[in-house]
Amino acid sequence: MSDFSPEWLDLRESADARARNHDIASAVAARFALRSELSVLDLGAGTGANLRATSPLLPQRQFWTLADRDPTLLEAGKAKLIQWADRHEADGEVLVLIKGNQRITVRFRVADLARETQALLDEKPQLVTASAFFDLTSEDYIRMLAKAVTEAKAAFYATLTYNGLQKWTPHRPADNQITAAFHRHQMRDKGFGPAAGPLAASELIDQFRINGNVVLDGESPWRLERGDRMLIHELIRGHAVAVSEIGGVDEKVIVNWVNVSRTGAFVGHTDVFAVPS
Ligand SMILES: C[S@@+](CC[C@H](N)C(=O)[O-])C[C@H]1O[C@@H](n2cnc3c(N)ncnc32)[C@H](O)[C@@H]1O
Repeated sequence: MSDFSPEWLDLRESADARARNHDIASAVAARFALRSELSVLDLGAGTGANLRATSPLLPQRQFWTLADRDPTLLEAGKAKLIQWADRHEADGEVLVLIKGNQRITVRFRVADLARETQALLDEKPQLVTASAFFDLTSEDYIRMLAKAVTEAKAAFYATLTYNGLQKWTPHRPADNQITAAFHRHQMRDKGFGPAAGPLAASELIDQFRINGNVVLDGESPWRLERGDRMLIHELIRGHAVAVSEIGGVDEKVIVNWVNVSRTGAFVGHTDVFAVPS
């Protein structure tokens, strides 16, 4: 059903939380500081990492819809959110989480966003958010989304959109070849048409500006070090599989590349906050 296992999402969650851009997060918090409640739609929610990281920025009463096409990730997300909360109440399909002084009502929606985004926006969320999602979508999808979110008069907060920058430590000559092939793989159709891949972040910024929003953006890179060994290892493995699948790089080059012992990696992301002007 999905290329994203709960284990992979677990592995990246703390690196994602560290990487988030603080200036953009502060702007989000400031925007909603005078409100007592907010409704939020999370696109490609996976196991709920975006809710765990973003809810502290938002008002005391929150109503989240977590949308993902993979029901097993949403199920795993429900369990993780219950563990994360101080207390919870389950009320039919709805989960109510108490965390600190916040009361967060969560609904889980299995939805293919390539087809069902507009229906979710028709429910009039006040904030549309996503993390690590838009590189999977297409330029057409981003164009449609920016227009629809603007028409719905919602704010928009996308964190950790991959922006095409990567640097491995130590550097090896084959790194550039691998990155180029990885990007070619990233731009294959992931269900939304040819994927935006490394262009997703700049496309989001452009499209929300074109639709008249005030747009803030900031870098949110992973700066992985020795302590992130497992994540670096998984990244390398993922790159090798993708590059091997897409072809164009000699298998021996890929094997040698995988066998280089890396002590660090920089992976560029961008956070974007857009509000109707
Ligand atoms: C990289 S994961 C990010 C998950 C989560 N936002 C996080 O930060 O951990 C991308 C998510 O997008 C979801 N996804 C991919 N294509 C989708 C589609 N067409 N409709 C709905 N969800 C989709 C995947 O199932 C996965 O949960």
